[in-house]
Amino acid sequence: MAKRRITPSLYTLILSLSVVSLAIAVRVTPLLQTLEKPSFQRPTFNRIFDTSKYGILQLNNGLAQTPQMGWNSWNFFACNINETVIKETADALISTGLAELGYVYINIDDCWSSPTRNSKGQLVPEPKTFPSGINALAEYVHGKGLKLGIYSDAGVFTCQVRPGSLYHESADAKLFASWDVDYLKYDNCYNLGIPPKERYPPMREALNASGRTIFYSLCEWGVDDPALWAGKVGNSWRTTDDINDTWASMTTIADLNDKWAAYAGPGGWNDPDMLEVGNGGMTYKEYRAHFSIWALMKAPLLIGCDVRNMTAETFEILSNEEVIAVNQDPLGVQGRKVDVSGTDGCYQVWAGPLSGDRLTVALWNRCSKAETITATWEVLGLESGISVSVRDLWQHEEVAVDAVSSFGARVDAHDCRMYIFTPRTASLRYVA
Ligand SMILES: *[C@@H]1O[C@H](CO)[C@@H](O)[C@H](O)[C@H]1NC(C)=O
Ligand SMILES: *[C@@H]1O[C@H](CO)[C@@H](O)[C@H](O)[C@H]1NC(C)=O
Ligand SMILES: *[C@@H]1O[C@H](CO)[C@@H](O)[C@H](O)[C@H]1NC(C)=O
Ligand SMILES: *[C@@H]1O[C@H](CO)[C@@H](O)[C@H](O)[C@H]1NC(C)=O
Repeated sequence: MAKRRITPSLYTLILSLSVVSLAIAVRVTPLLQTLEKPSFQRPTFNRIFDTSKYGILQLNNGLAQTPQMGWNSWNFFACNINETVIKETADALISTGLAELGYVYINIDDCWSSPTRNSKGQLVPEPKTFPSGINALAEYVHGKGLKLGIYSDAGVFTCQVRPGSLYHESADAKLFASWDVDYLKYDNCYNLGIPPKERYPPMREALNASGRTIFYSLCEWGVDDPALWAGKVGNSWRTTDDINDTWASMTTIADLNDKWAAYAGPGGWNDPDMLEVGNGGMTYKEYRAHFSIWALMKAPLLIGCDVRNMTAETFEILSNEEVIAVNQDPLGVQGRKVDVSGTDGCYQVWAGPLSGDRLTVALWNRCSKAETITATWEVLGLESGISVSVRDLWQHEEVAVDAVSSFGARVDAHDCRMYIFTPRTASLRYVA
């Protein structure tokens, strides 16, 4: 996650570099396995909802048929983690009912490991904060029907200067598998300037060779256009720099992630970073917009707040089953920005096809005053005669039974309304 906040002492750096050069000498770069053709049908719509790249490169480990859901420690706790807080979070996901809604991965981010490997060269959980070890934690969360994620780095150190996995891929993957870990987030700090395309595939091979099915989440911050190559390497890939708990960061990241919409699909997703909902830096309406757009973009829904202590508003947002269903829709087509108007294009329409011949539409007001935003059938690419019923996913009710040619609603400043359009006629017909 967080980058280069601590400078390692020169001493540690020199030590590690000498280890690394040894490792380079004996390294055999594994070749990417030949990929099987995807077994699914590629849905096709039109120019607006281009799916030409959907599923072309997906990693074939059976995971991520829909975007991953769960929780990650970084956004709220940063380095202040320990096994108690991880267990209490697992308990809270169960007691609040969030786990039942699909939030099953409990992902430990940076700072779980000791600053040095042991005499056998293995990673070691920090004894003060994780005295029972990672396997015990995995057993604990598995006992609750949840899954455990861990974190490492495709460099010589993690961002918080714990040992990285570069040139230790095979041993570290085996260790994670022996701990019954289900998910790996793989960061990009201290990478010796080696391109991500060279540093990320060896861990894919190592995870595969471990024999345990492990979700592989690439976190190279979008620096090397991962959508173009990461589909055959991981189950999701970060498309941007780290999010922070501000409206400016969230909106910027949404736009950056939008560019890669055509490349997402079952097996591999664009990752605009974890949710900030509930962390206090945005308003209720802004968080509602954040959650709506992340769901529509088929982003991983990884909660980043303290779920042991959520407000009712935070819970209401994160537990919106209708919005979650958009994210988890089996069609797996990433929705995108289809229209902008107003000063600086701050009145926006985002939309995406759903299974069952439906469409999700978000009216997102990024301006500072309320306005009526209208989605025309033209910007959605629908034939003009199509009639739809419109369901509001935040009000949880039908708001129009027979909308034809356009649908609009008043949207407050920095708020977002989200809908599902269902055709009243036989099907949704798209204009070529
Ligand atoms: C564990 O971490 C939490 C969250 O940072 C903190 O409140 C708690 O005091 C820590 N517990 C121990 C035993 O260190
Ligand atoms: C390893 O990769 C092969 C080929 O893509 C796949 O069939 C298999 O399920 C993978 N195994 C694991 C444990 O990920
Ligand atoms: C948060 O992100 C925004 C937009 O990317 C950036 O301008 C700002 O500096 C970041 N703030 C912090 C505290 O990192
Ligand atoms: C719970 O969250 C509130 C803010 O919503 C905060 O003021 C309070 O300190 C938190 N309590 C604990 C135990 O973390």
